[in-house]
Amino acid sequence: MAIRKIREIGDEVLNKECRSVEKMTPHISELIDDMFETMYETNGVGLAAPQVGVLKRIVVIDVTGEDPLCLINPRIVETSGEQTGYEGCLSVPGKTGIVTRPSYVKCVALDRDMKPTEVEGTELLARCICHELDHLDGKLYVDLVEGELMDTASPDEDEE
Ligand code: NI
Repeated sequence: MAIRKIREIGDEVLNKECRSVEKMTPHISELIDDMFETMYETNGVGLAAPQVGVLKRIVVIDVTGEDPLCLINPRIVETSGEQTGYEGCLSVPGKTGIVTRPSYVKCVALDRDMKPTEVEGTELLARCICHELDHLDGKLYVDLVEGELMDTASPDEDEE
């Protein structure tokens, strides 16, 4: 495993549409391992493949530090409610802003074995799923921020 370099805002790879994963390969498996390692090393709660420069529809998420989730070709199929709160992104270091997201999402995806899986999330997990899936369509949270993008008070703020 290896820590990969995180691409930052301004890097055009972050604004591109990612391609679906057709089959699992050793190369993609290694990418997923590296994405988890990079996310944990940077204290992130989620990371999308384009953030490490790879235009594939893969995200890793772990909002508790004990629930690693790898979602391949993920798609949100249901949302409800609304939550408004601070959001950050490893690709936008030192910044945070207020974003409104659904308070519940249901997502279908493939797991690491390319088997269909379904994930439901509320609160931070729901926010994180929305944030990471946006990355796969070349979208950053900064475009959804209500008001101004702010400097983070704490370097430990959850970043995705
Ligand atoms: Ni992000």
